[in-house]
Amino acid sequence: MWRRLRRLWRAFFPARANPDDAWALGELRLEEAHLYKAMDSRDREHAVWVARRLLERYPEAPGFVVRAALLHDCGKALRPYRPLERILTGLLRLDVPIEPLQKGLIGAWQIRQHHPEYGAARILDPQVAQIVREHHRPRSLWASRLCEVDEEF
Ligand SMILES: [Fe+2]
Ligand SMILES: [Fe+2]
Repeated sequence: MWRRLRRLWRAFFPARANPDDAWALGELRLEEAHLYKAMDSRDREHAVWVARRLLERYPEAPGFVVRAALLHDCGKALRPYRPLERILTGLLRLDVPIEPLQKGLIGAWQIRQHHPEYGAARILDPQVAQIVREHHRPRSLWASRLCEVDEEF
């Protein structure tokens, strides 16, 4: 709960986000780096937190799982980070089609609902893509572990 409130508060202060990009980029493959870099600093900070927590809890996590943790929300980068939109789409559920992705407010709900698929579609490694695709609806062991850690932040 406190972590969630903290994340909410920090959503309004992008300058305070301090993601460890050097560590993240050292873990990612070259062709994955642009997906990570395209994310807002607040989403990158979240990604690094999640990946590190996952490693703390499951030190045996294979490299592809750590990469999936770092990229799990990369589908959100298709839209600028707007804190109020993030809050609104979190509070109010709407069922929206996956395509075409719209620029208007509907697009905010599309990102909320379909970012796992948008992200997965951009990832080359099928193992990483699968975990990213499942991160809110896990069907495999590592996706459920990622989901568990993700929900703490
Ligand atoms: Fe997500
Ligand atoms: Fe997340």
